[in-house]
Amino acid sequence: MSDESRPSPAQAGTTTRTAAVIPAAGRGVRLGPGAPKALRALGGTPMLIHAVRAMAASRAVSLVVVVAPPEEAAEVKSLLESHALPERTDFLVVPGGDSRQESVRLGLDALPPEYGIVLVHDAARPLVPVDTVDTVIEAVREGAPAVVPALPLADTVKEVEPAGAEGGPEPVVATPARSRLRAVQTPQGFDRDTLVRAHETVTGEVTDDAGMVEQLGLTVVVVPGHEEAFKVTRPLDLVLAEAVLARRRLNDGF
Ligand code: CTP
Ligand code: MG
Repeated sequence: MSDESRPSPAQAGTTTRTAAVIPAAGRGVRLGPGAPKALRALGGTPMLIHAVRAMAASRAVSLVVVVAPPEEAAEVKSLLESHALPERTDFLVVPGGDSRQESVRLGLDALPPEYGIVLVHDAARPLVPVDTVDTVIEAVREGAPAVVPALPLADTVKEVEPAGAEGGPEPVVATPARSRLRAVQTPQGFDRDTLVRAHETVTGEVTDDAGMVEQLGLTVVVVPGHEEAFKVTRPLDLVLAEAVLARRRLNDGF
């Protein structure tokens, strides 16, 4: 049996445990000056705590590994201790690296052996609903080596010849058919061995983990994402996140 055809732990059965790695080590340059993005408050609670709760809300997730900004690792540990989190879930904090890719790898290195399925979830997507998390896990359990939640695009996308530092008009190279494009979100779900292999072998710049698995020649599948799984990147995204939280609180009141 070749390596490729042997059933991986994720495919072998339902005993496989699921862990979530949360890269949270970025500074949040595009959000503007202030604390590291994951530690900024949303509805009075750090964004990271929202993201951890979103992963722990899934009954399948029994470990959350937070990859913290190296200087704030101790602060992140005490934040996790001081906020209410489900009893059934364990937590680990590890210091992150210079790139998201490096931070994810450091999180993977900290995973105990019994975890056969791993989710990778941006701390910057604090409001992803639990149904999206469960849909991703289910698709991995059914045998997909890599699963990404994604949404159709509202905008038409053009490929250009980038103008570079001077700015200036950029010639359009192509207009891909919008109906075939998807904007991908997190959590992305993986057979653990596949993701580890991708991180060991793929070099060069990548903006998502599933892209590394594609480079191994494996099929990545898309499942429906959710509008509320948007990434908090720029100041306006904070306004939207606060509005989503306010609406949830209102709905919970009824
Ligand atoms: N991330 C990380 N380690 C890095 C860089 C990013 O763990 N060295 C994490 C961020 O904390 C975030 C996720 O990767 O949760 C997605 O990255 P992004 O939204 O780009 O966050 P930042 O890199 O913090 O933001 P910016 O690019 O604006 O600085
Ligand atoms: Mg970044």
